[in-house]
Amino acid sequence: MSSHRLLLAANWKMNPPPAGALQTAMGDHSANPYHPHSDIDVAVFPTFLDLHKTIAAGLISGGQYGRAENAGAYTGDISMAMLKAAGCRYVLCGHSERRANHSETDADIAAQTVAALEQKIHPIVCVGETLEEREKGHAETVVKRQLKALPLESDITIAYEPVWAIGTGKTASAKQAQGMHAFIRSLLPEDRQQKTRILYGGSVKADNAEELLGQPDIDGALIGGASLKPEEFAEIVKAGERLTANSQ
Ligand code: PGA
Repeated sequence: MSSHRLLLAANWKMNPPPAGALQTAMGDHSANPYHPHSDIDVAVFPTFLDLHKTIAAGLISGGQYGRAENAGAYTGDISMAMLKAAGCRYVLCGHSERRANHSETDADIAAQTVAALEQKIHPIVCVGETLEEREKGHAETVVKRQLKALPLESDITIAYEPVWAIGTGKTASAKQAQGMHAFIRSLLPEDRQQKTRILYGGSVKADNAEELLGQPDIDGALIGGASLKPEEFAEIVKAGERLTANSQ
């Protein structure tokens, strides 16, 4: 089990908020798994159109993307400054779907990360190899290259998301994930090694969450598909709370 406070990040991608997620808590936070919890961090990443709603509902919220420039002629984009003004606490940088569908480069992602830090939004920067890269034995080289561009000395969160495990139902085994997380940690500057949280993402579900979150270098999860199912997400939250309670 990690020595960090666990972070469970619900990436809703291009989907509406799950049923009940916007219901404001009536004193009973446990009824809504997306609400802030006392022993672990829970954050949601809705579409830009839904951000105001999740923030108004009291959910800790983040953008799925933010452009580094503050404003200007960037049709279809939204800036870190705008996310901050809207009340975002977090932002995802370099999700593999952004890297693939919007040709975001390591340099773009580094610029987004720096801009988020300047706006005092906490960046969760995604790294991870494709299946082809893993099969060729290049997983560590790719992740190392992706990390090299980043301000690793700063207070950021890293999400290791092997591309072959995203939305495919194929999860990295707890051993594979732990191995890569330990490798990532070894690449951080010494004074950040025990401070930076490293999340795992890629087909995290109720039935594998406890094993993954129980690994010493896994400090939380970035959850797509399962975060859209309130009951399943509630089970993942419970797994995180159980592990936290057992470690105290
Ligand atoms: P998944 O997505 O949980 O559906 O695999 C994770 C992600 O893309 O962040």
